[in-house]
Amino acid sequence: ASRHLYLFQHFWCPSTHIEGVNNFQKHFQAKDSDAIVASFPKSGTTWLKALTFSIVNRKRFSSFDNHPLLTSNSHELVPFLDFIFHGDNIQHKLSYLCNMTEPRVFGTHIPFPSLSNSIKESNCKIVYICRNPFDTFVSSWTFFNKIKSDSLSEVTIEEALEKYCKGIIGFGPTWEHMLGYWKESIATPNKVLFLKYEELKEDVNFYVKRVAEFLDCPFTEGEESDGVIENIIKLCSFEKMKNLEVNKSGTVGRNVEKKYLFRKGEIGDWINYFSPAMIEKLSKTMEEKLSGSGLSFKTCL
Ligand code: A3P
Repeated sequence: ASRHLYLFQHFWCPSTHIEGVNNFQKHFQAKDSDAIVASFPKSGTTWLKALTFSIVNRKRFSSFDNHPLLTSNSHELVPFLDFIFHGDNIQHKLSYLCNMTEPRVFGTHIPFPSLSNSIKESNCKIVYICRNPFDTFVSSWTFFNKIKSDSLSEVTIEEALEKYCKGIIGFGPTWEHMLGYWKESIATPNKVLFLKYEELKEDVNFYVKRVAEFLDCPFTEGEESDGVIENIIKLCSFEKMKNLEVNKSGTVGRNVEKKYLFRKGEIGDWINYFSPAMIEKLSKTMEEKLSGSGLSFKTCL
């Protein structure tokens, strides 16, 4: 179904998400033990949700032959906060949330300033994943054309890039989104851990340990030598997840075909889509939007 974008609290909120975002802001009660996986769409959310879920639950689900990720999509195990709050029956949702096994793990695409005060004021932690804008754009354009439900679909790739640069895309502008979390991660490094998709791809072992430390559940030496980290990495790898029966058919969340969540999972595929004019356009925009922030992406050009 096609959806519209509304400029809402300084970000472009898809019409389908407004009710959920509102209810979430009004009602969600964070717990100190919560972990929130935050991201701009198409930046590696599915992967980071899987990693975070398996890291914090590794004692509960110690068997990797019988792990929930083998039979459930990571968006089912780690639901989006605004999705949970979509629709009525708020009391029922609140009691369900209250009774969830701790630590609870949630996802969100909501920009930092629009997260509820309850999240900001509690000791819960936020792990943010960001991806170089060239690949994020290509991932978005291909994805939204498959699901036909965003401002980026049914337009040429040049027109889509124009919108992306202007920020007119669900949860955009992407620049404000990444900078919001980036600044927060510098101001309060114990609250927000800022990760990049490219860095995770290059050294996932290091970042799995980093996430575990950040979430106050560091791996013990025994766990390391038992191969727990390696098992988590394997379980959450692109090849493994893409080829699981559970991810090959059916839908998740707001009717998203699960198979579309896994495309190539590579760094640099943008080169197959960008014309020289498009490269110039996005490079200039990034320079304009990100200069002086300290945030940069080494894999672009
Ligand atoms: P590509 O379209 O470049 O292949 P999100 O999960 O935020 O929607 O991001 C989607 C992107 O992450 C897609 O990128 C998808 O292929 C990739 N992806 C999905 N699962 C992954 C995994 N387990 N490891 C690495 N990348 C993954």
